[in-house]
Amino acid sequence: MERVLGVSVYVVEGGRTLSGEVRLQGSKNSALPILAATLLCRGECVLHNCPRLSDVEASLAILRYIGCTARREGSTVIVDTGSVTRFDIPTELMHRMRSSIIFLGAMIARFDRVRMSFPGGCELGPRPIDLHLSALREMGIEICEDHGELDCYIRDELHGARISLPIPSVGATENIMIAAATARGTTVISNAAREPEIVDLADFLNACGAKIHGAGESTVVIDGTERLSPAVHAMIPDRIVAATLMSAAAVTGSTIHFTGIIPSHLESVFPVFRDSGCEIDIDGKGVSISAPYRLTSPKLIRTMPYPGFPTDAQAPVMSMAAVADGMTVFVENMFLSRYSHVSELCRFGANIRVEGKVAVVDGVRQLLSANVRAYDLRGAAALVVAALCAKGRSEISGIEYLERGYEDMELVLSALGADIKKI
Ligand code: UD1
Repeated sequence: MERVLGVSVYVVEGGRTLSGEVRLQGSKNSALPILAATLLCRGECVLHNCPRLSDVEASLAILRYIGCTARREGSTVIVDTGSVTRFDIPTELMHRMRSSIIFLGAMIARFDRVRMSFPGGCELGPRPIDLHLSALREMGIEICEDHGELDCYIRDELHGARISLPIPSVGATENIMIAAATARGTTVISNAAREPEIVDLADFLNACGAKIHGAGESTVVIDGTERLSPAVHAMIPDRIVAATLMSAAAVTGSTIHFTGIIPSHLESVFPVFRDSGCEIDIDGKGVSISAPYRLTSPKLIRTMPYPGFPTDAQAPVMSMAAVADGMTVFVENMFLSRYSHVSELCRFGANIRVEGKVAVVDGVRQLLSANVRAYDLRGAAALVVAALCAKGRSEISGIEYLERGYEDMELVLSALGADIKKI
């Protein structure tokens, strides 16, 4: 299991209407691969809009362990990967977050060698890395798997390959792109993941001198270059934080305005809110959501790879469905165990049944306060959304999970008028 330390609790007095403006934090899922990719640059990279999250801190801890320097100035992180002293990552650091596997491609490209443990299981059910390993093997990397350890080295050279992914895995696409950026020859990834964070990684690598074409499409072509140079880059805004705060607005009948948002990244998310009766206004200055007094159920939500509805938004949006008029069917197609929030939502009085990858939510008029526990990052966000509209005082424990992906959630919500405290 991934290890998350801490004993913080959120105390929420539900029922407050929210209003105001939110500037979105930078994307966690962009920051993690980009931090790993700085290893290719051998110098000082300046990364703006880098959110202050425990997963980001875990990436910085890995970089420091390897011998890099990393410092933060507000939302900017400055990483110097000029001098490095080690090519291993200890188990404790690998287990802090599952995404640590993203360092495999970066370290092998920099050192020709890496020793690390498997990132381990996670709270979303088994998250295999077979696609990462088989793709990297095709690029000339020898990978010995032994008792949970990965010992990887390049026998002859790191070279380009034609890789066809059976699933458009985000992490595998990123690992291949990073390893291919300085490999000899051309790499072609078919059925690549198309998430905006893939495009952000390509933009960063290209700013460093890489030659990556087609990011955001199903076929990505990477022409290896000998060397990359450091660059300045700003992470894209976090579309999942946007979807979470939109859910918070929806359940409290509120109006929130988002700045620093890229509306096209939320094209599969907006219709769900519109179907629920929310008004979404998009203009040059950002996006506003205004929720009605009573929501209508969005009917059917199927999680899919981008540009489909994101699995990461499933849990917070389920809290919205829990108080909407009518029935909503969720089909979780991405991960096996992504309904750990359901039993906790039911403690608030939600009416939800789960059968395999399907969850059927029968909306109720009002949730009531409850003491609940989060078991994963997005599930934690769902519980906060539910508590915001539940009548009375709720306590949410396990918010260390929340802090892996949401920067100062309680401060953001308090500034919008919510009664929420971290104790
Ligand atoms: C990334 C995101 C995560 C998001 C997920 C799906 C980051 C840091 N995390 O996770 O927030 O929920 O995309 O949008 O960006 N799979 C395999 N073998 C592999 C790799 C993946 O079978 O080697 C399967 C997984 O079990 C899963 C599916 O492919 O069922 C998609 O996973 P993937 O896209 O790789 O997710 P992550 O990159 O781990």
